[in-house]
Amino acid sequence: MTGDPRLVVISNRVAVPKARGAAGAQGGLAGALHAALKDRKGLWFGWSGEESESGRTGHIDTQTSDGVTTATLDLSQRDIDEYYNGYANSTLWPLFHDRLDLAEYERETAKGYERVNERFAELGAPLIDAEDIVWVHDYHLIPLGERLRSRGLKNRMGFFLHIPWPATRMFVSLPYHERLVRTLLFYDVVGFQTQEWLESFLHYCENELRAEVDKASGTVTFEGRTTIARAYPIGIDWEHFSKLGENGEARQAQQRLISSTRRRIAMIGVDRLDYSKGIPERIDGIGRFFDKNPESIRDLVFIQIAPPSREDVGSYQEIRAALEQKCGQINGARSEVDMVPIRYVNRGYSHAELFGFFRGAKIGLVTPLRDGMNLVAKEYVAAQDPEDPGVLILSRFAGAAAQLKDAVLVNPHSPDDIAHAIRIALDMPLDERKRRYEKMIATVRDDNVQNWTRDFLRDLSEA
Ligand code: F6P
Repeated sequence: MTGDPRLVVISNRVAVPKARGAAGAQGGLAGALHAALKDRKGLWFGWSGEESESGRTGHIDTQTSDGVTTATLDLSQRDIDEYYNGYANSTLWPLFHDRLDLAEYERETAKGYERVNERFAELGAPLIDAEDIVWVHDYHLIPLGERLRSRGLKNRMGFFLHIPWPATRMFVSLPYHERLVRTLLFYDVVGFQTQEWLESFLHYCENELRAEVDKASGTVTFEGRTTIARAYPIGIDWEHFSKLGENGEARQAQQRLISSTRRRIAMIGVDRLDYSKGIPERIDGIGRFFDKNPESIRDLVFIQIAPPSREDVGSYQEIRAALEQKCGQINGARSEVDMVPIRYVNRGYSHAELFGFFRGAKIGLVTPLRDGMNLVAKEYVAAQDPEDPGVLILSRFAGAAAQLKDAVLVNPHSPDDIAHAIRIALDMPLDERKRRYEKMIATVRDDNVQNWTRDFLRDLSEA
């Protein structure tokens, strides 16, 4: 990619080399961005994930590894509380995932969000050269483009939203909703995961902001500026992920899973412990399956891997407690001395281990109540044995469902629907499993993260 301008990525989280925590717990964004930056000798700027007062003094920690330079700042406890735990994860996250019941609207956290975005602009602007292309990610940093422009930056600037964009009737419950959208229109390109989220955004621009929206060309013109708004469904790093199967760590993990489950069929779920992922609802569906099929109890085991996340936010503490209770109830009622139906694991695993677990599990349960994309669904497909593939049960409310139509699609709110999907998966003959797998693997392979980056950056270069 020599000759291309340098890429500067700005996001809340940065995958700093040798950072603490397993890759599996970092979610899709980290892996996707690292792949994008690697061949562009790019710069990745964001929060270190650490708490200290040094960010106030302007201290930035810089490291270069694998051709990627990372520049990170620490945040103070107050900034973390108001910006990350507060406005980003107690206001925008629940609202954008249709959980108005959990969304908190506090003036102080809104101010903290603005303040930290301003700090990112203040410390980030000097790192950006005139020719650089700037790509800002996710709901933590929506106003950053406007803040950088107010400092005189004329660079091409794009923004990608990794989570859904809510329907207008939900979004208008946010105080100062118009201000947030106005700042978004300071970017040259704004990307969404699916056509559905894009349409919700355009609906708002047209009907609330009264901007000029051209759906055919995917542009929004407002106060003399034109922004391209399009859907760019994110993919996995196919090349890298599919090779993990040759790795000893993946094989060992697969063996561990198979030998520990003996002759039972393993079903697996892997999610950050988040209420949007529909884990308690999934457990209800599994409970319903056992109620209806008590003879299957010795034939099946469900493994839920759920590394804790955003632990300082009350709604996350509640979901964790609710999930522990549900798993306990089902296991208490259904276990035998030599058999437990649900294994609930509160830790993250490496990508290679997850590959092995996915390959060893004959059913993948990915049932979020709402999800921007969901890369676990794609990884599950990518890890399957083409000669004997497992079945993906996928929520129709995940962005991935728009692409993986050959999964068994379910309504994650309905325990009966989930129970029925498990029955379908268990009974599915090999030729149908292969047919569905072949269609899905073509999408997972072709709509990979490299193509996602290429498409977004192409539009940004031409904007
Ligand atoms: O899905 C949104 C997202 O920000 C991902 O991009 C990221 O991997 C995940 O959530 C992790 O969240 P956090 O940074 O809050 O741990």
